[in-house]
Amino acid sequence: MLCPERYIKNNGIQQREAKDALTGYIEKMMWTSNEIVLDIGCGPGDVTSDILYPFLKNKIKQLIGVDKSVEMVEYANSLFGSSEMDFKALDIENAKDCGSSYSRGFNKIFSFFCFHWIHNKVDSLLNMHSMLKSGGEILINFLLINPLVELYKFMDDEWQKYIKDLKQMSQDSFSQDELRRMFINAGFRIINMESSVKIYTYPDYSTFLDAVRAVDDMYSNLPQNLHDRYSIHVKDKIREKQMVEICPNTGETILKYLPITVHAVKD
Ligand SMILES: C[S@@+](CC[C@H](N)C(=O)[O-])C[C@H]1O[C@@H](n2cnc3c(N)ncnc32)[C@H](O)[C@@H]1O
Repeated sequence: MLCPERYIKNNGIQQREAKDALTGYIEKMMWTSNEIVLDIGCGPGDVTSDILYPFLKNKIKQLIGVDKSVEMVEYANSLFGSSEMDFKALDIENAKDCGSSYSRGFNKIFSFFCFHWIHNKVDSLLNMHSMLKSGGEILINFLLINPLVELYKFMDDEWQKYIKDLKQMSQDSFSQDELRRMFINAGFRIINMESSVKIYTYPDYSTFLDAVRAVDDMYSNLPQNLHDRYSIHVKDKIREKQMVEICPNTGETILKYLPITVHAVKD
């Protein structure tokens, strides 16, 4: 289980990605008055409240953030809950819960940096489709390649048994074509799908490692007495496999990553 306090301090890349996606797409979406909007995988709620909401403020009646982690939802409500913004627990893979509470409930669905964690992408897209009103749109931004999954592949045997137990996490990767077909098969018409390699610069290697730690669910699988040794293994493996570039003079740490943004409509 991710820790909201740790996550919110280390999500600079997620904040920037949400801002970029919204800047590029919000005006391309069709808006009516009093819309009801959903943010899937809202985490601790800061992206929903401080980034998404300002883009929507004058367009919507209500914004609901959902996350499968109850800890995240409670944290988000305590910090950002208001009459216009509410946070609720929901697993987007669970058709029954999505259907019973939210069928055809939303004009727009957003989701930032969540879809690459989702196991059953096919069912999740079907659920998103069923939660949208007719004419509703989705904007989903996520990673085509999850760097943590790549890191796990490199890890020594000793850690592999714990990785196998990471039921929370999708370890599959998909090509753009496969994803395109998934969206279409779920009933969406894709308006735009774009992906390009980007870079994010951390001030130093330890700040980068903090960001990795904030999204690494391995810590909830490992006995406490292995945490320090595991952290050292992560630190060494990332360097050994050159998963980031570290500037020898400044220590700045550069991560290359591959985000994808999908804008689609339910006709
Ligand atoms: C990396 S965080 C992203 C949080 C926020 N959207 C942001 O951009 O900072 C991913 C979130 O997705 C949530 N998540 C993963 N699988 C989910 C699912 N099946 N249903 C709902 N939320 C899910 C996780 O609990 C986590 O809080």
